[in-house]
Amino acid sequence: MSVTLGIDVGTSGTKTLAIDETGAILASASAEYPCSHPRPGWSEQDPELWWQATKATVRAVLASGRVRPGDVTGIGLSGQMHGSVFLDDAGGVIRPALLWNDQRTAEECAWIEDRVGGRQALVRMVANPALTGFTAPKLVWLRNHEPRSWDRVKQVLLPKDYVRYRLTGTYATEVSDASGTLMLDVAHRRWSHELLGKLEIDPAFLPACYESPEVSAAISAIGAGETGLLAGTPVVGGGGDQPAGAVGSGIVRQGVVSATMGTSGVVFAHADELGFDPLGRLQRGCHAVPGAWHVMGVVLAAGGSFQWFRNTLGQAEVEAAKATGGDPYEQLTALAATAPAGSEGLFFLPYLTGERTPHFDPDAKGGWIGLTVRHTRAHMIRAVLEGATYAMRDSLELIREMGVAISEIRVSGGGARSMLWRQLQADIYGADVHTLNSSEGPAFGVALLALVGTGAYQSVAEACDATVRRVESTSVDPTARARYDRAYTIHRRLYPDLKDAFHAMSALIKDA
Ligand code: XUL
Repeated sequence: MSVTLGIDVGTSGTKTLAIDETGAILASASAEYPCSHPRPGWSEQDPELWWQATKATVRAVLASGRVRPGDVTGIGLSGQMHGSVFLDDAGGVIRPALLWNDQRTAEECAWIEDRVGGRQALVRMVANPALTGFTAPKLVWLRNHEPRSWDRVKQVLLPKDYVRYRLTGTYATEVSDASGTLMLDVAHRRWSHELLGKLEIDPAFLPACYESPEVSAAISAIGAGETGLLAGTPVVGGGGDQPAGAVGSGIVRQGVVSATMGTSGVVFAHADELGFDPLGRLQRGCHAVPGAWHVMGVVLAAGGSFQWFRNTLGQAEVEAAKATGGDPYEQLTALAATAPAGSEGLFFLPYLTGERTPHFDPDAKGGWIGLTVRHTRAHMIRAVLEGATYAMRDSLELIREMGVAISEIRVSGGGARSMLWRQLQADIYGADVHTLNSSEGPAFGVALLALVGTGAYQSVAEACDATVRRVESTSVDPTARARYDRAYTIHRRLYPDLKDAFHAMSALIKDA
């Protein structure tokens, strides 16, 4: 029986797991590391941290006694998307990597859109607008601000592909993660020489680009010595954390969509056709399924808004939970459940760190709107959960507008663990929602891709059908749904009505 490893190089840590052909988890290990913020809006990490964490977690999985190096038939890599690792001619790291949540490139994004003839032209070329977190603006930033470092650049890699380089000695990536660089011709699944030419970026800086289940390299003698794996073990392309997580949730057919409510909230749909939205309001890319694409909407502070409430206004529950060993979120959710659907006219905008989909506005702000003396903390908490869920519905509506029919919604993350939040999602999305047997995320998804790439399954869909199952369904409550449909039309008006005020507030902060 095949055994594969999935390694997910995340922002707060790296997770490695081993699965067999049935999808059973044989062993798993994680290691955490910090993120540095040398200036406001900057977010960086030393790639060496990822490598050390990869080594430690692979070694821990091999030391579990449940997996021997000779059992491992293939390895899949996943990771935080959009980051930039700059390497010199000896493969050495030139400076800390700029991460997906780094916001320093606003000017470079404007320059890129201008340079290629506007946003629509860019969206036609690479399927996405220039977002500050994407990779290409980071290259332009380095050229503009650290020319001495730029002069030494010979190769640019995404985070998981740096780990691939350390494991195998090979520079390679795959189409799903490459889609988030802004340098991939997403329609044709290859680097966009047109875009690279316009930005004057040397195509030789970019690695070979594979399909996600394809074998891209093999563990080198050095990689084997460092990790305990066997030299020659194949490493498949893998996937960016979102497409890889989607594979792990079985989002591999048109109509099946996931709604993952973690710190950020992501709505992810498989698409048989790339489709077109001239405004580029959704992120579009190649799926980790060969021949398919994905569309995705990202709510930056979905679970993050609830976390903010817990940290700032949920002290009573935090203290009570400490005393009883309970979970403050459970207490806060129980209180929210005592308020009625729609929170008696109270709304919450979750734009606590600006917003990506659908507004692309780093200056968007959060807050409650509609407070009256009748409202209590219960209403305020419920409004936070509802507001984050309306924001997720914004992405679902855009996916529907692009002509991708939605037949099934699979929920995961913190928002799927709470019964109340699952019900809110069903009622606000207007569709039954389903939880799954596996909640292992991207590491599980790329371990499945490794099973496909090494011949245990013929296709990604076949691997998912054999391993991913629905376990629980939450049905729509028609009365609540009708109330939420009305409320949602009000939610849609709030950001456009407040946008100018949000921008004035940002100016006020900057000028202070
Ligand atoms: C996807 C995105 C995040 C990062 C970090 O577009 O920005 O999911 O991949 O997890």
